Amino acid sequence: MSMLKNDLFLKALRGETVERPPVWMMRQAGRYLPDFMKLKEKYDFFTRCRTPELATEITVMPIDQIGPDAAILFSDILVIPQAMGIEVEMKNGVGPWLPNPVRSIEAVGQVTVPDIDESLGYVLDAIKMTKQALNDEVPLIGFAGSPWTILCYAVEGQGSKSFDKAKGFCFSEPQAAHQLLQKITDTTIAYLKAKVKAGVNAVQIFDSWGGMLSPVDYQEFSWKYIQQIIDALKDLSPVIVFGKGCWFALQEMSQSGAAALGVDWTCSARNARYLTGGNIPLQGNFDPSRLLSPIPEIQKQVKIMIDSFGKDRYIANLGHGILPNIPVDHAKAFVEAVKNYH
Ligand code: CP3
Repeated sequence: MSMLKNDLFLKALRGETVERPPVWMMRQAGRYLPDFMKLKEKYDFFTRCRTPELATEITVMPIDQIGPDAAILFSDILVIPQAMGIEVEMKNGVGPWLPNPVRSIEAVGQVTVPDIDESLGYVLDAIKMTKQALNDEVPLIGFAGSPWTILCYAVEGQGSKSFDKAKGFCFSEPQAAHQLLQKITDTTIAYLKAKVKAGVNAVQIFDSWGGMLSPVDYQEFSWKYIQQIIDALKDLSPVIVFGKGCWFALQEMSQSGAAALGVDWTCSARNARYLTGGNIPLQGNFDPSRLLSPIPEIQKQVKIMIDSFGKDRYIANLGHGILPNIPVDHAKAFVEAVKNYH
């Protein structure tokens, strides 16, 4: 295996002392970059995901234009339900659209646990091509949605502010819900193992809708399955868990074998450090909307953020994905403010 020229991110994941924290931004590969918008006009969403040349180009774009310390593969968490036989479309202006949501035990029975090479080989090809393009400059992050977050889309059929149909399914048909969650978990484990084998240097689990659940329900419908994924992956790759709105689970997460934990902007650094015992690397948690502030203000807030987390055992990031309306120079100012930290 070749050596990475910039391994700050992997050092921080191992808890090693660093001269400054590494930085990357969730959803950095697309959304706000003008060159990405141009590709978006030419190719529909899943074509961009399924064409290794396009996925590679989009993944490398922010590395060249913004300069973060890690790349995240351009893809989507919804390629998993798609591979499991659930139809997924991406509608302009609407977002994910699943015409046949999974809402009965019979429907769960029809969901498959697919062969990864056969159904998701295009992602593995994109990883190999991206690794070549990155030329060992920075590490590459692979990712998956948490089983709960995937269930949210599979049952709801689209994005939602409350995911009440998904929650209703879990609470009225828990057996069917657990069957579906286990199928998603088994698929995700095989998928992430294949991604690591294809060359990603770390994996992140996005539990974007974990915060929709009460702390008790979180254990039953989300965390249990994330823990299975960590157990299966942790000896092969560092695993980062990002649970949006899940500060209440940080203590348990810190004892799970995860290499690092993501934190959103509603949880203070002090509270996150307190809940996790101070040892596990934390990642976050700049409010994505804060990137709309004037650049000097961004610089000031970044300094405050790093001072609060501390420079070690810390990966600077946003508290959720970057927003489509962020000016490129503001995104760049965020990354540079971390790089200039002293
Ligand atoms: O840095 C990156 O952008 C890497 C690629 C990436 C995408 N989606 C590309 C994408 C990643 C890491 C994701 C994760 C993802 N996808 C999550 C978890 C992270 C989060 O934001 O909470 C979720 C919940 C999804 C599901 C999803 N995909 C939604 C809700 C949407 C529509 C709204 C939007 O723009 O986020 C998508 C579409 C999507 N995925 C786009 C991109 C660049 C925009 C659509 C397009 O380009 O045509």
